[in-house]
Amino acid sequence: MKTTAICLAAGKGTRMKSTLPKVLHKVGGRTMLEQVLGEVKASGVEEQCIVVGHGAAEVQAALGEGYTFALQQPQLGTGHCVQCAIPNVPADTDAVLIVCGDTPLLRAETLTALREKFAAGGAAGIVLTAVMPDPTGYGRIIRDAAGSVCAIVEEKDAAPEQKAVREINTGAYIFAYAELCDAIGRLDNNNAQHEYYLTDVIKLLAAAGCRVDTLVVDDPVETMGVNDRVQLAEAAAELRRRKNRELMLSGVTIIDPASCYIEQDVQVGQDTVIYPHCQLRGNTVIGAGCVLEGECILTDTVVGDGSHLIKVVADRAEIGAHANIGPFAYLRPGTRLADEVKVGDFAEIKNARIGKGSKIPHLSYIGDAEVGEHVNIGCGTITCNYDGVNKHLTKIGNNVFIGSNTNLVAPVEVADDAFVGAGSTITTPVEAGALAVERGKRRDIPRWNLEQSPRARQKKD
Ligand code: UD1
Ligand code: MG
Repeated sequence: MKTTAICLAAGKGTRMKSTLPKVLHKVGGRTMLEQVLGEVKASGVEEQCIVVGHGAAEVQAALGEGYTFALQQPQLGTGHCVQCAIPNVPADTDAVLIVCGDTPLLRAETLTALREKFAAGGAAGIVLTAVMPDPTGYGRIIRDAAGSVCAIVEEKDAAPEQKAVREINTGAYIFAYAELCDAIGRLDNNNAQHEYYLTDVIKLLAAAGCRVDTLVVDDPVETMGVNDRVQLAEAAAELRRRKNRELMLSGVTIIDPASCYIEQDVQVGQDTVIYPHCQLRGNTVIGAGCVLEGECILTDTVVGDGSHLIKVVADRAEIGAHANIGPFAYLRPGTRLADEVKVGDFAEIKNARIGKGSKIPHLSYIGDAEVGEHVNIGCGTITCNYDGVNKHLTKIGNNVFIGSNTNLVAPVEVADDAFVGAGSTITTPVEAGALAVERGKRRDIPRWNLEQSPRARQKKD
């Protein structure tokens, strides 16, 4: 059975009080729209038409290539929205799945259940419903004497006895394509909001003698629509709980899940232990058997198996296996650390490749550099990579020892097995195996501080 999804994402989202279109607000590192479309796809529906209107160009740009869009301009209601999408639905579609772009908690499993129930046959449409303790604001499911669904009545149009109904419309549906096309063309806007309601399709189908079924979700939280930033935070918290749970059940230890913020696309290997207050963002991938201690903030960063990180901030960095990073290390974009690298406290690395087993243990800045294997970079060493106009490369070979407090003025190269004396400012190449020391000659004046220094003179007076 060929299914096409229509995602309603043209509304303004007035209550967000934002210049950003509502569906582009993020939950768990993804926009709400990406989250919904991802679940639709995971339920097995590849063909998707997204209806955009308010902020259309921005929404389209945010999603990028590979999507079909329909434009709804102006926005005359959810029914009008689906009318705008119908010309983009392939003619050989059997079923149309309709979801809203602001329901980021909807799960693929639920959409699959909706599709399976529809595929079992007999109904022209199935409405995903929920039984709410407080149904205020939602469309109510109205049934006839035999218990069949005959209409959905919006809050603003509902009579008092209809308002008492606690089964509500979640805004997700599946319809037979032909029946939907017929009914959607016959909508009117004779209602309290003077909008073309998608929900009136139910009434039209029922009147035409078609059966409309419901699927009741187990957990109503799943169908929560995000209308303001309070609900945005609630939805994000729920997604976080789900992500943490999924990781823990897959073999990751999260010591205090409530304090860890792990975004939806993050992957973590088995037996990794995550201590409190870690944030793993974007497409971060953590290997197996790692330890992430206190307050690591890793964005789009890859960490190999068995590495230990403590208080590390990393953005678009790659860390090999069995590395030891932190505390207080800052790895900026383009950092590529091979296996068994050690980076210690107050070290900043940017656009630099560091070879296997090399160490940058304390107080260093290494930028625009290629560092070989088993190199020791002494405390306080920096690459002077910027001349005020351009950035230049520092190259360090294998088994090099850079003494403490060295300035490497790029472009400069230190060849294999060389040794740079502490406190040097290196501006020209150091050849393989050599010792380079660049310091002013020391001058000693005996007894100066006892007899000639200002303090010594003051004592004498
Ligand atoms: C809708 C349903 C209601 C249901 C509720 C579930 C209708 C008439 N009502 O009400 O029964 O209980 O969702 O959350 O459908 N949109 C457009 N174009 C428009 C209008 C809306 O794209 O012209 C989009 C919005 O961006 C949003 C979705 O459709 O993603 C739902 O619209 P919204 O205005 O939030 O409908 P509700 O009043 O919540
Ligand atoms: Mg809504």
